[in-house]
Amino acid sequence: MKNGFPHFMLKEIHEQPEALRNTILPRLSKGLPDFTDDQIPDDVFTSCSQIHIVACGTAMHAGMAARSMMEPLLRIPVTVSVASEFRYEEPLIGEDTLVIIISQSGETIDTLAAMRLAKNYGAAALSVVNVKGSTIARESDYTLYTHAGPEIAVASTKAYSVQLAALYMIGCRMALVRGKYSVPQATEFMKKLLNAIPAMEAMIAQKDSIKALVTHLINKSDAFFIGRGLDYAFSLEGALKLKEISYIHAEAYAAGELKHGTIALITEEVPVIAIATQEKVFAKTISNIREVKARGAFVILITKEDAVLDRGVADIHIRIPKIGDRFTVFPIAVVLQLIAYYASTGKNLDVDQPRNLAKSVTVE
Ligand code: M6R
Repeated sequence: MKNGFPHFMLKEIHEQPEALRNTILPRLSKGLPDFTDDQIPDDVFTSCSQIHIVACGTAMHAGMAARSMMEPLLRIPVTVSVASEFRYEEPLIGEDTLVIIISQSGETIDTLAAMRLAKNYGAAALSVVNVKGSTIARESDYTLYTHAGPEIAVASTKAYSVQLAALYMIGCRMALVRGKYSVPQATEFMKKLLNAIPAMEAMIAQKDSIKALVTHLINKSDAFFIGRGLDYAFSLEGALKLKEISYIHAEAYAAGELKHGTIALITEEVPVIAIATQEKVFAKTISNIREVKARGAFVILITKEDAVLDRGVADIHIRIPKIGDRFTVFPIAVVLQLIAYYASTGKNLDVDQPRNLAKSVTVE
């Protein structure tokens, strides 16, 4: 069942390129995203004036990344809510709102309750779900299935990257039908999305060097993940993965926010995993890295391969392939998953069944 891998998590990390192909390729028509077979008509995308994304855990982090990608592209408000909060709120949504519900299992109780609430407010509910025929898929107005195949490890890996792929396709289709993208622009976007797949493969091939760097983490009790913009959204997922399976306390911080209090926690004992793949804020993130370095932090920095760095900025530098800024999440996800995986195995923990956690949270 594990196909020769020692754990399901490692197997599922390796399955991501294929899962992405399975999710994207059947929905490409002449190089453009097309949801005809999913029975999602374009008026779902043209009739709304705001998007509200609701999910839990890793699925919510996919939503955070999608928000940072979609809002500047579509120029409409895109909000992300934690389902367990949203379901008890009085959200400002209605018939003008497209609510996107993200769930691997399709059975998470808070996400399901949030979707029911959104529908009561008159919003259209589009679910991005992995498990066929699950409750969320059945009750939503429209479903875009991800094709990750069964995900067994409690820590979500391939489900996250296919959720992102599906959300990126939604963003591209919306931009096209709302007149924000021309056909050539949408085609280019999809080409870049497909280019992210070999970039993921390149990072999977670097797993031994990622395993080696984890020696700097496994004897620590705390770690920080920092980044700005999309890189911050990726940091959230990196910190969750590390906490969940290695039991190292990890926090994700918007890099510019550190100096408003949290930098007091940075010492030589606190490694910082910094992500700097977004051209627009690259210099700003590097300056935040200098601040943590000055406080003695051991810095593991992830950038694109062509990033130019001064000596001494980072202790370890991981380079991902040069791809479009919006798409770096795919290779970055692999790096962050492998860091968490090797931190867990390095501590001889139960990678696939971490303590206190269930694969699907179906009770409150
Ligand atoms: O099945 P869902 O996608 O609704 O699950 C949501 C979360 O419970 C899930 O992503 C959880 O955070 C994972 N264990 C993270 O790896």
